[in-house]
Amino acid sequence: MSKGQTPSARVDELCQLLAHHNYRYHVLAAPVISDAEYDTLLRELQLLEADHPELVRPDSPARRVGGAVSERFPKVRHPKPILSLGNAYTAEDVRAWYDRIRRVDDRVEATDFVVEPKIDGLTVVLHYENGVFVRGASRGDGEVGEEITPNLRTIRSLPLRIPVDPKSTYGGQPLKAPARLVVRGEAVIFTADFEKANAGRQARGEMVYANPRNTASGSLRQLDSGLTAAWPISLLCYAIVEADGVKIDRQWDLIHYLRALGFPTAQNIRHCASIDQAVAFCVEQADQRDAMPFEADGMVIKVNDLRLAAELGFVGKDPRGALAYKFPAREVSTVLQAIGVNIGRTGVLTPYAILEPVQVGGVIVRQATLHNFDYIAAKDIRVGDRVMLKRAGEVIPYIIGPLVEARTGAEQPYQIPTTCISCGEAVERLEGEVAYYCVNSACPAQLTRTVEHFAGVLDIVGFGEKMAVQLVANGLVKDVADVFSLREKKKKAVLLEMPGYGEKKVENLLASIEAAKQQPLGRLISALGIRSVGEVSANDLANGFGTLTTLRKAKADEIQAAAGVGPVVAQAVADWLARKGNKRVLDKLEKAGVWPTAAPRTRVAAGGPLDGQTFVITGTLPNWSREEAKAFIEANGGKVIDNVSKKTSYLVLGESPGSKLAKAQTLGVPILDEAGLRALAGR
Ligand code: IVH
Repeated sequence: MSKGQTPSARVDELCQLLAHHNYRYHVLAAPVISDAEYDTLLRELQLLEADHPELVRPDSPARRVGGAVSERFPKVRHPKPILSLGNAYTAEDVRAWYDRIRRVDDRVEATDFVVEPKIDGLTVVLHYENGVFVRGASRGDGEVGEEITPNLRTIRSLPLRIPVDPKSTYGGQPLKAPARLVVRGEAVIFTADFEKANAGRQARGEMVYANPRNTASGSLRQLDSGLTAAWPISLLCYAIVEADGVKIDRQWDLIHYLRALGFPTAQNIRHCASIDQAVAFCVEQADQRDAMPFEADGMVIKVNDLRLAAELGFVGKDPRGALAYKFPAREVSTVLQAIGVNIGRTGVLTPYAILEPVQVGGVIVRQATLHNFDYIAAKDIRVGDRVMLKRAGEVIPYIIGPLVEARTGAEQPYQIPTTCISCGEAVERLEGEVAYYCVNSACPAQLTRTVEHFAGVLDIVGFGEKMAVQLVANGLVKDVADVFSLREKKKKAVLLEMPGYGEKKVENLLASIEAAKQQPLGRLISALGIRSVGEVSANDLANGFGTLTTLRKAKADEIQAAAGVGPVVAQAVADWLARKGNKRVLDKLEKAGVWPTAAPRTRVAAGGPLDGQTFVITGTLPNWSREEAKAFIEANGGKVIDNVSKKTSYLVLGESPGSKLAKAQTLGVPILDEAGLRALAGR
């Protein structure tokens, strides 16, 4: 409450705000504040209402279930209201809930619990008649939802007929579908699928999406189910709304019954004998949230005894028998102070957000990615905007979008730079590409990145970003070949004067540079930083030509033929070789004795884009043999294994796959094709 504001005025304000955000969330599927911020407002209203019952309005958002229903879809009345949950933010909140429900019914004393992830997706209600999926709806306002059956049918893991396995049993008996069954679940996009789809979109120059939940929700609420099918949506079920002739007394049994029927459920569901165990599991899972394959915004603690849970009744719209333990927010709002631009090695300009520092998920964030200039335009992000920021797991923090209603009018639309911020030369957008490039190959920012890349690929120890910046800035390095002339007296003297560089450190650096001369040819070609030439193509070129002397004379078609590389790579190499500055670089390298001949070997790239990930390959890939795909994965730091398990990062899928496909689908292992694999590795 702002200073001087009366409780009554604040209640009015909160009701208005909550109604607005409810509408944006449920009707427009375009929220502008995070769930955590919504909950904070709602909690404030609930507290005020508890304090001042006379201020409770009949239309108070704290009293009703959800929001309005979009007019675009046929409506379905849910067999029972689809309710939401009360929230807890701390272990104390959980214990206070436990004490409250214990006072309502002393049988709570003896109850056990089931603790499940609170899946952050779109709530869906699925109707089955005699085992056949007949209808599906969104939650809508909790009483009436939108019928989105054709869209839901596009979800691969949604069983169209149950039991999925006709031989499945439950409680030792053959399992038969009830005449009528209504199941509740959450439609989500698994994080890995979302990132993969976005990587593909970015590679194709399409718009990238900010957040899996909104994407799942938006895509399930398309009028054209073809658009829904374009996203890899998954399903996770956790409740039965109604079932004919099925008697299930416990939530724990219910989860197993759903699984036996073939419904996908979360894996990290735990039976907890006491409230202490339940709290401990919530806290443990909060630490583990990045390991979950989907986004969860908390855990749900449920009284295991379903009859007792039902008899406990409700407080307002929240059932007493379950509680949401919310994880700390990872989405916050802050002010976008400015938009900076990074210039990459190939001259690509990448915008990033300079933010008013803000704490999110335990760290202070000052910068965030803005992906590309199209993203800024599509989201209408303006300098000075209050923006929503998200930081999830290992992902670089990114801007979800502006809070339009917080605008004062002082915000400035962003102008894409027309000249390079480093060298002042023209910036161009290539036909059909999202990226803008600085076209000046002598641009200091590009040179710095190229030199940094060069030293990195050649494993020169003690030569990182800072060194590259300094050497380019003080003119010691004007191209990558100059790295090998740092031993010269004059240059060495400058090195010795650099802050933090004593005799010993400089000697070590120079020794490491000397050693780099012995790196194999493939590595040297890769280090040159030719556009489109990664490690695999560089090795192909090295193996195909054996020496730079022959390679440098070749034309694009000869390069393609001799090295077996694609036309894009061949053309990029020919273009690079044709440039005057690059010819000079090669001359200098030869003179410095950096002229290896091919020693074919594949290096496993630790720290490569696929580092730490495991892949299983099945079927025939369009362009690669099994060995080539394996070499590609390994060259990018990944590992290829034979059998699919829960731990497999990706299944690489080709034509006529084997049984590995079904196994991967059952285990929820994300699936990539050859192009997806390249995109994942950033190639
Ligand atoms: S149980 C009476 N379990 O979170 C039972 N809900 O505010 C009420 N949600 O939209 C729901 N994961 O649909 C339950 N494992 C889970 C859940 C879950 C996500 C959703 C729910 C609702 C919101 C609660």
